[in-house]
Amino acid sequence: MTLDEAKTELKLLKHELRRHDELYYNKAEPEISDWEYDQLRLRLNEIEKRFPELKRSNSPSQKVGAPVSGIFSKITHKKPMLSLENAFSKEELGDFIERVQNFLNTSENLEFCAEHKIDGLSASIFYKNGQLEYAATRGDGYVGEDVTNNIRTISSIPQNIKYLGEIEIRGEVYMPIKSFMELNRQREEVGEKLFANPRNAAAGSLRQLDAEVTKSRNLGFFAYYADGSELNIETQIEVMELIKKLGFASSEYKLCSSLEDMYKYCNDTSQNRPNLPYEIDGAVFKLNSLELQNRLGFVGRNPRHSIAFKFPAEEAETVILDISIGVGRTGKITPVAILEPVNLNGAMVSRATLHNFNEIERKQISIGDTVKILRSGDVIPKIIAVTKKSGNSMFSMPTTCPSCGANLVQYSGLVDLYCPNHFGCSAQAVRYISYFVSKNCLDIPGLGEKQVEEFFEEGRIKTALDVFKLREKEIDAPLASKPGWGKVSAQKLYDAIENSRDVSLSRFIVSLGIPGVGEVIAQLLADRFKDIEKLRNAEKTDLVELDGLGDLMAEEIYAFFRNDVNIKFIEEFKNLVTIIYQEKIIDMASKFYNKTVVFTGTLSKLSRNEAKQIAISKGAKIGSSISNKTDIVVVGENPGSKLRKAMELGVQIMSEEEFLNLMI
Ligand code: IVH
Repeated sequence: MTLDEAKTELKLLKHELRRHDELYYNKAEPEISDWEYDQLRLRLNEIEKRFPELKRSNSPSQKVGAPVSGIFSKITHKKPMLSLENAFSKEELGDFIERVQNFLNTSENLEFCAEHKIDGLSASIFYKNGQLEYAATRGDGYVGEDVTNNIRTISSIPQNIKYLGEIEIRGEVYMPIKSFMELNRQREEVGEKLFANPRNAAAGSLRQLDAEVTKSRNLGFFAYYADGSELNIETQIEVMELIKKLGFASSEYKLCSSLEDMYKYCNDTSQNRPNLPYEIDGAVFKLNSLELQNRLGFVGRNPRHSIAFKFPAEEAETVILDISIGVGRTGKITPVAILEPVNLNGAMVSRATLHNFNEIERKQISIGDTVKILRSGDVIPKIIAVTKKSGNSMFSMPTTCPSCGANLVQYSGLVDLYCPNHFGCSAQAVRYISYFVSKNCLDIPGLGEKQVEEFFEEGRIKTALDVFKLREKEIDAPLASKPGWGKVSAQKLYDAIENSRDVSLSRFIVSLGIPGVGEVIAQLLADRFKDIEKLRNAEKTDLVELDGLGDLMAEEIYAFFRNDVNIKFIEEFKNLVTIIYQEKIIDMASKFYNKTVVFTGTLSKLSRNEAKQIAISKGAKIGSSISNKTDIVVVGENPGSKLRKAMELGVQIMSEEEFLNLMI
């Protein structure tokens, strides 16, 4: 590999990793499995190791976990909560032991404590004089989120322990498979989005503003780490014993003293995996002696003393019952295999993505074939091979869009088929409008894909911008008389729409739906150009220069702003909203940082818009109605029912004057 080749591949890898981080952490909609993600990371590490001069401090290899979100207050960890290096084979496990031996300058057999690698999220719980003081998520490894109230609702976490002095316990919060299945069943019943796996469900359940919701989710906790002021212990096995004595649950663990022992533990655990009531994605091996652990220290984001052996993705066989064709918001056509439901490590699987038609051709897939599918715990499974042919002829590529009938096209250089009828295809319109009103864009609660589809069919909205004209349809077709709607819900929707008219520049950019431009890239563009016109007129070179963008993305953005239809859309969109550019908020200490603020009543010193803009500039989100998501209500004259509701819910209430004093 030459330096130039390394540079090109690194650029692509970084771009891909950032994209997948965004999908995983911010959208909770991963496109690839953990396994594939790990492979990308490994490749990045490998290239950075070979060409250290290309390693940058902002490389994904230097980051651990999710950025801290800001919904909760922050807690700085006493010691960083880092992550583990991965091994995928016996050989790599052997290399790890050898590295440890070399570092310690010994050829003696070392002892390792083997544990389950629980597929959940790590948490740190701090006790003082026997009382649970606070608890935090891992966050970015250095600063986590304060989830004390939520942690207190987990029944396997004791509120009091018999330990004088200070002690920090760390472990994994997880959701038992049974609870996960039940939760998704309930969500399906009410049409809520399903959690992709127990880990996402556990993370979503722990990071709730209402601890009652966390409580109802039946989470569990396995402890695996203790660090205290008066701990007199020398090994990880003793840590596990102490943890149990203090009243915590721990998953199974075992002392291993050779590579053979360790590999056997991996095989046994992997075999027993389907019988466990919780998800694991591997085994963890920790050098048993705590003193030696200390001597080994860290390299980058990983401690040298431990390693995670990741199990390969799970496979199963099933039959393809049908192939359905999806049309995405950009017109991308995706074939999806409808499968005879099959159990894969606790989850019933009935769909598998086929990505594109090349894949169908390459694998010679027909309806009725028996196929091997693969799932690594988190995403829609993939078909990896046909194991028995049905004898049916190969599924043939559609030539027309299943929604609008337009002839499909294949753009040069791209494998996917597209419906080119961007402005006349109802499937695309519905997908795009649903995206436009979703949480990361205009964030209009009350408008989900189902409602958008209905409104579209009824002719209430035809394009995304029609959302702002929805109220005008009231005269002919009152929303309140539509089944499932009432006066209150209709009013709530109109309020939310009005409220979405104050939109930050980055959300405005995300809402445009430029392929590949999500929150992270939109923020990058907003911070660089600070103004939609400046971004629109940016030269290709200005865009390429942006770190983290990449040539392909720069090209895509440049082309987007040179398209007449897009320009017209932006012009109209701009006239319907107020775009606010938020300077990067460094004032995390502000009382308003990431708080949802609602204004009610007439303000005397400021206009409503001014007040909102000031609050936004301090990092606040503006809400339209009072709910348990509201943090602060600013009250002017004649506040009406919102004030009463705020009092009922115990939301913090402040006057206009108090608000202004805090803003200065
Ligand atoms: S020890 C330096 N033990 O796996 C990190 N972690 O990539 C030490 N995990 O962040 C963590 N089961 O969330 C440890 N028995 C176990 C674990 C475990 C699951 C998770 C944890 C950690 C990640 C490491």
